[in-house]
Amino acid sequence: MKNKTALLWLFVCLTLTISVGCKRKDAQPQIILKLGHTLDIAHPVHKAMVYMAERVSEKSADRMKVEIYPSEQLGTEKECIEALQLGYLAMTKTSSAPMEGFIPQMKIFGIPYLFRNSEHCWKVLKGPMGRELLLAGQSKGIRGLCYYDAGARSFYAKKKIRSPADLKGLKVRVQNSVMSVKMIIAMDGSPTSIPFGELYTALDQGVVDAAENNPPSFYTSRHYEVCKYYSLDEHVMLPDILAISTKVWNKLSPEFRQILQEAVDESVEYQRKIWAEAEKNDLKSVQDAGVTVTYPDKEPFRKAVQSVWDEFEGTDIGESIKRIREVQ
Ligand code: GCU
Repeated sequence: MKNKTALLWLFVCLTLTISVGCKRKDAQPQIILKLGHTLDIAHPVHKAMVYMAERVSEKSADRMKVEIYPSEQLGTEKECIEALQLGYLAMTKTSSAPMEGFIPQMKIFGIPYLFRNSEHCWKVLKGPMGRELLLAGQSKGIRGLCYYDAGARSFYAKKKIRSPADLKGLKVRVQNSVMSVKMIIAMDGSPTSIPFGELYTALDQGVVDAAENNPPSFYTSRHYEVCKYYSLDEHVMLPDILAISTKVWNKLSPEFRQILQEAVDESVEYQRKIWAEAEKNDLKSVQDAGVTVTYPDKEPFRKAVQSVWDEFEGTDIGESIKRIREVQ
């Protein structure tokens, strides 16, 4: 009798497992959102998006899915933003730098030495201005969902950069951004815009002599294999932005919009936690790989870019600078 009951239970359990398994397999998500970006899968911002995608699946009971395509598989940042506008691509994560070409208000992030430190930056991003900027591109087909921490950008090159004088005559790779071009010119360097995915080869072959980025991007892109000097002048804090196509957003039901936004917001908290750690570890990793890290005096860099600040006086960007400086 005992054996019979045990057998019966085994049968019930097996049937249940199989049917649940089958259901899962059969259950196709109603919504699949493709997300293209440029970073490597070891990068903390990619990890945060994986976390977000997992939360979306959980919260929607697999009815909605975010599929992530890293490493420029779906195109450069500019191409991804354009695809978002047309509604061909649902989501992208880019630096705020290329966004300025589509949403002029975003130029504000390209003002060198704008934020006093990371706390100041996050206070602004989480405040009314940060929220306004996320939604500033809605009519252009781009709806910002959140900011991710991208720290501060600093120069790396095949030689030590101690002051702007060392940039004289140097070909410096910049992002697809007028503000980055202005900044490098103000520092006396020669800016060349190159997509992130092509930068390793460009540095390796001497198409450019230098570039600039935060430690996790310097490390995970392996640019440190080619550039052995990293000078932490921290000239600009350009947050990363996760955005969705307005066309796609408008088609989502209120329930799916809420699920997506909640998952995104949770991923921001997660990303900020892992970012600080990654910055520290990745700086150490490049040093272990033979990179000389230096901490130059920031004053000469600040002075050099004063002309970029002056240029915007009396404009909307000038007003935004004032608003940001007033945030305590
Ligand atoms: C950062 C940013 C990327 C961007 C890259 C670049 O790593 O997170 O979105 O592509 O800078 O310099 O192009």
